[in-house]
This record gives sequence, structure tokens and C-alpha cells, in this order.
Amino acid sequence: MLNLSRPIIYLSVMQVKHFTDFRSIGKEEILSIIEMAEEFKRRGYPRDLLRGRCIAMIFEKPSTRTRFAFNSAIAKLGGSSINLSTTEMQLSRGEPILDTAKVLSRYVDVIVARLYSHRTMEELAKYSEVPVVNALTDVHHPTQALADVMTIHEHAGDLNAVKLAYVGDGNNVCNSLLQIAGKLGMHMSVASPPAYSVREDILSEVVAWAKTSNAKIEIHEDPGDAVRGADFVYTDVFVSMGSEAERERRMREFIPRYQVNRTLLSYAKPTVKFMHCMPMYRGEEVTPDVADSPLSLVYEQAENRMHTFGALLRYLLGV
Ligand code: CP
Ligand code: NVA
Repeated sequence: MLNLSRPIIYLSVMQVKHFTDFRSIGKEEILSIIEMAEEFKRRGYPRDLLRGRCIAMIFEKPSTRTRFAFNSAIAKLGGSSINLSTTEMQLSRGEPILDTAKVLSRYVDVIVARLYSHRTMEELAKYSEVPVVNALTDVHHPTQALADVMTIHEHAGDLNAVKLAYVGDGNNVCNSLLQIAGKLGMHMSVASPPAYSVREDILSEVVAWAKTSNAKIEIHEDPGDAVRGADFVYTDVFVSMGSEAERERRMREFIPRYQVNRTLLSYAKPTVKFMHCMPMYRGEEVTPDVADSPLSLVYEQAENRMHTFGALLRYLLGV
């Protein structure tokens, strides 16, 4: 019989693993997630891996790929998800993130969130008792970088033998690519207008990681310098979600110099491939003759979001 007078003792046996950026994950763990994602892609998904698991998906900004890819991976692995925009939650009426984190931890096994502020994401992770996954903030987009590196791996084989050039806004996508490159020892170059270059604190941390990983990190102002000899040329939107008010100024600063077009790609290797996290704005950060050409890996990247999500959930839950 159930003894109701006996107190329930909660034991914290393991530290909860979060994935808010690449600071708390090591090279071997990143590579094992990518390897698992490639296996899911090749051999299909184990249908029972997430049976009985429920994942909360919270979105403060729009999303197509991240939302569909995560939901699809969860369904393929036998789990379930609850998707809510923050406008439908008490968060929109001022409920603290602390209470949201603690309450959701009682209902779900993982919290995936796309939030405007990375500080709020860190608070969510601080108070959550279940893993938190950053599905994009103003500073990081780490799940995107996992899929991108998987895509590079599929094409190049050896991650340490290629040069990845990023041209454009030194934003969330660029930061996460720099972090994963720094952890894995990759060669990455970045070219941005000076007013939109990578944050100094993020860069200096990545440069410190590079000392042990042997990553090669280059920062340029001139796109031709960044792209010279590159195997992969990556760009992202010039106006990220939340920066719409700066649109006119950004267009003046980025176009035409930082647009990825055939002329810029002529500095890269003849075998160069084009990458973009999407959504793409043809005629702004990339010309249609690049975006819609056989050089483009964008749909492969988008597909790999799903495979890397499945593998990430497996890693975070230890299943
Ligand atoms: N790349 C990416 O995160 O796409 P969504 O904004 O559509 O999720
Ligand atoms: N830098 C873009 C990425 C979109 C997936 C943004 O934050 O809007």
C-alpha cells in the first residue's frame, strides 16, 4: 500500500545537460552527435527512442525549419511535443522565466526555446531542471551550426581539411559557426562591415579554444580576403529577426560589397559550395544565380536540421 506519510526524497544524481551554445560541450560530444545524425539519415530513426518523452517547444519569433525539423524528429523517434508561441503563455503577461522554467520542468523532458534575448535563454537554463535547447537567440544559433557542420562533413569528409568562409553580418549564426569551428579545430574566416563584426568577447573565447583545438580563425573586412581559397562560402540575412528597424542602414552597409555572387565566389576554390541557414533573400545577401545553382547546399542543410535534432535529443537525454 502507498505510504502517504513517507516523504519523497529527490536525489540530484546528474547535472542537467543544456545546449544553449557550444561553451559546455566538447569536441568528442559534438562529433558523436553528428555521427549519430548521419546514422539516422542513413539507416532511419529508432522508433521507440523517445517513447513516453514529451518536449516543450516555445517560440517567441517565427520559425519554419527549426520548428518543423524538431517536431518531425521527435515524432520519428516516438516522442511527443507541445508547441506554443510565447504570446499564448503567461510569459507574455509578465510571468517570470524562473517560474516558467520550474513549472515546465515538472511536465516535460526537454525545453526547446527560440527567444529574442540570450540572457533570457541563460536564465531559462539556470532554473530548468530538464535540458534546455537554444533554438536561436540574438547571440547564438547552435542547432543550426550542428546541421551545417554535418553538411560540410558529408561533402568534405575531413572537417579539418576545409576552409569555411562566412560573409555578412557577424550575428547569431556566425557566432555559433565560429564556436563550433573553434571547438572542432576547423579553419574559418569571416568578413563583415566593421559596424557589424563579431562580438569581441565571443571572438576572444573562440581564439582561446583554438589554441588547443588548432582551429584557424581569420577576421577580415574585405570579403575577397575571407573567401580566398574557401571550400564553403556561407552567408545569412542582412536583417535578422529583431533588427528590422535598421533595415535601410544595413542595406547601405552590406550591399553590394558583402553580397555573395559569382564574382565573390571566383576568389574561392573552383569546387566551392554555397551555404545559408535560410530563410534566404535572393537579391540581398545572395544572388539567385548562386542560391539556385548546383553550388548550393541550402536544402541539404535544412534537411540535416532534422537529423541533428534527433541526435541532439538522444545525447541530452542519454537514451
Ligand atoms: N534556419 C532557421 O533557423 O530557420 P527557421 O527560422 O525557419 O527556423
Ligand atoms: N540571423 C537570422 C537567422 C534566422 C534563422 C535571424 O536571427 O533572424
